[in-house]
Amino acid sequence: MGPGDLSRALGPLPPHADPRLLVGRETFDDAGVFALSDELALVQTVDFFAPIVDDPYLFGQVAAANALSDVYAMGGEPLTALSIAGFPTGKLPLEVLTEILRGGQDKVHEAGAVLVGGHTVVDDEVKFGLAVTGRVHPARMLTNAGARAGDRLLLTKPIGTGVLATAAKRDDLAPELARGMVEQMATLNRDAARAAVALGARCATDVTGFGLLGHASHVARASNVTLRIAASRVPVMPGAREALARGHVPGGSARNAEYLAPLTAWEDVPEPLRALLVDPQTSGGLLVALPPELAREFLTRVAGAADVGDVLPRGSSLLVVQ
Ligand code: CO
Ligand code: CO
Repeated sequence: MGPGDLSRALGPLPPHADPRLLVGRETFDDAGVFALSDELALVQTVDFFAPIVDDPYLFGQVAAANALSDVYAMGGEPLTALSIAGFPTGKLPLEVLTEILRGGQDKVHEAGAVLVGGHTVVDDEVKFGLAVTGRVHPARMLTNAGARAGDRLLLTKPIGTGVLATAAKRDDLAPELARGMVEQMATLNRDAARAAVALGARCATDVTGFGLLGHASHVARASNVTLRIAASRVPVMPGAREALARGHVPGGSARNAEYLAPLTAWEDVPEPLRALLVDPQTSGGLLVALPPELAREFLTRVAGAADVGDVLPRGSSLLVVQ
């Protein structure tokens, strides 16, 4: 669902205050965090969606990496996972479901977590994902409320999976570009998260359905700062600009752009780049905020990470894109 509709649906619900709830839904963070003791908290998240790649095993891997990512984005380590699946029994062979679940299970094991069960419903459309529980030290968690003026912003994966997946769905993407896209989406954010925690970071989020700018706006609001994004420094996946030029725009882009319009001050940014900055991502990278000297260290430790901007005191808009 788009970020605007989601805010409107959740708005009327009263907040549930509990001293053990360290991160609830109010800040639109990646996962909820619930304290068990001063040294230990649970990180809990759930994510599932319809296939974005044809191969059922790879779809299972991508959906699982995407769900696990919300635990990494809080600085946590995943412990257990539950599968959630919708499946059109009778319309598709059961082997398809087996392969989806196998892909999910393999990715959970790669993350060092344990798949403990799941729930499956009959559905017109295939859907798959995970509910994941992880652990984090409450003093070392990464929230989207921890960015401070002067921090650099680091992004650990290039953007563009939305337009690439749309092109692939319409059979208009070269096989090697499609393989690269799937490989990136199936890559865990574990190493990037561990590097951020080791460097004492306080703030991270992962870039998923609301696009780079959508998730950046949640960081800005929760941290009461303005994020300045240097659009030309944001890494873009191979083939994404070309897929966009051929007209492959995913459905969520317009919802993201509409939500962001009143929150964003655009300086000279060309239109194709604007579209990529709001492109809904699947299993995207982490956006980490760190002071400059630690940011330089992060860039040497995390392959593929890029410095994409910085944090300013709260100005008249949540985001400045230049
Ligand atoms: Co997230
Ligand atoms: Co999610």
